[in-house]
Amino acid sequence: MAKIINGKEVSKKVRESVKAETEKLKAQGIVPGLAVVIVGDDPASRVYVNNKKKACAEVGFMSEEYALPAETTQEELLALVDKLNKKPEINGILVQLPLPKHLDEKAVIEAISPEKDVDAFHASNVGKIMIGDYKFLPCTPAGVMELIHSENIEISGKNCVVIGRSNIVGKPMAMLLLHENGTVTITHSRTKNLAEITRDADILVAAVGKPKFVTGDMVKEGAVVIDVGMDRDENGKLCGDVDFDSVEPKASYITPVPGGVGPMTIAMLMKNTLMAAKIHAGIE
Ligand code: GUN
Repeated sequence: MAKIINGKEVSKKVRESVKAETEKLKAQGIVPGLAVVIVGDDPASRVYVNNKKKACAEVGFMSEEYALPAETTQEELLALVDKLNKKPEINGILVQLPLPKHLDEKAVIEAISPEKDVDAFHASNVGKIMIGDYKFLPCTPAGVMELIHSENIEISGKNCVVIGRSNIVGKPMAMLLLHENGTVTITHSRTKNLAEITRDADILVAAVGKPKFVTGDMVKEGAVVIDVGMDRDENGKLCGDVDFDSVEPKASYITPVPGGVGPMTIAMLMKNTLMAAKIHAGIE
């Protein structure tokens, strides 16, 4: 029987602490501001953007939404990013991904000022994470670390296996675990004998994007299992990358979907935006 790590609760604590700090900043005349840019009408992106705006209001940030039509050109989007880079009331810029196919995502990310890059996607921030000298943490991996810390789970010397090598989750996740002295293995779609590797994991992070991909036979008795997935099962029901029913009896800790890693991403975005406001005010 695993202990369920409650992402909703941990996320609430993070947001409450951001709110308390924001109140102190406001007393000094500083209001953290986040600009959220969405291009087109992807329904999932719309939900994420609404949740981000709501979270900003809750912690006391100013937020601005820029909803652009699907046919927006690269030049128009870059012009908006440039305007937001120069706007003093804006501390953080988030361009919701994915962008419509005709737009160059990488060029847009690189156009965001690294000091306002609250997603930590810019090459300069990614490089800083690599050398362990970072201010902004990528939101989802940082949320996973917060969940692990919330249970005082030791990482140092543990076998940590990450399934997935995306720039947004898998790669930075591996780095954060490494910074805390985990022995880290990154696995992916070409990995041979995946189950053999995952069965060696003391801490297993699944970020593959395939519903119920990790099954009980792939998990060691007593492992900590973190599920980053947001998938739909065969009945269209929300589920993770981990087959909860077969994995939970073997794990010592497990995150549910929903209510595990998901709520953490926005909480960490709030933390990054607060950090950006402090950096811009010369406090951090
Ligand atoms: N799309 C899905 N997740 C994210 C995220 O964390 N940041 C941005 N900008 N877009 C996303």
